[in-house]
Amino acid sequence: MKGIIIYKGKYGATRQYAIWLGNILNIPAVVAGSEAKGDLESVDYIILGTSVYIGKLQLRQWVEQHQDLLLRKRLFLFLVAGTPVSEKEKLQEYIAVNVSAEIRSRCSCFFLPGKLVFNKLSLPDKILLRMGSWLAKKRGENIVMTDYNHVSRELLFEIVDAVGKLNEAAIK
Ligand SMILES: Cc1cc2nc3c(=O)[nH]c(=O)nc-3n(C[C@H](O)[C@H](O)[C@H](O)COP(=O)(O)O)c2cc1C
Repeated sequence: MKGIIIYKGKYGATRQYAIWLGNILNIPAVVAGSEAKGDLESVDYIILGTSVYIGKLQLRQWVEQHQDLLLRKRLFLFLVAGTPVSEKEKLQEYIAVNVSAEIRSRCSCFFLPGKLVFNKLSLPDKILLRMGSWLAKKRGENIVMTDYNHVSRELLFEIVDAVGKLNEAAIK
């Protein structure tokens, strides 16, 4: 089966996962917006990769714009976030708020931990993160502001497994 990865992030965590995944599955990993229309039409499945900023998925607009095409494909989505993967409800909520019910119903979702290097953020993002963290605290939640890097190739095993099963089913 033919597949493609379409991803959007800001500081490299999503890109890193997309590149690893592309190498493992031997499929192209393309930044959202750089794909040719034919790239999407010709594939059986699409893996969407996105990070989240103050509750908004980076890929949200692209998914909205390509909804009709996406509804004709088998879909996988990986979400890269600062929220720990153990906080499934919160992570699922990000997807529920940003992705339509039709797309969600045909999409297998996976959660991957991201990375943050505060000094490398743009000034608007530094300010946004401070504000977001302050607002989250008021809601009794937590947005981490200290540096972390949990990006790891091994964490892709679940999504690789799921795509592998799809390929196996197609051969049988
Ligand atoms: C301004 C800002 C806002 C963020 N907002 C959230 C958020 O709402 N929820 C969350 O789980 N992580 C949040 N994060 C963490 C990012 O999702 C995380 O750093 C991720 O690895 C970024 O991936 P990227 O470099 O591919 O964009 C935020 C980070 C920044 C800098």
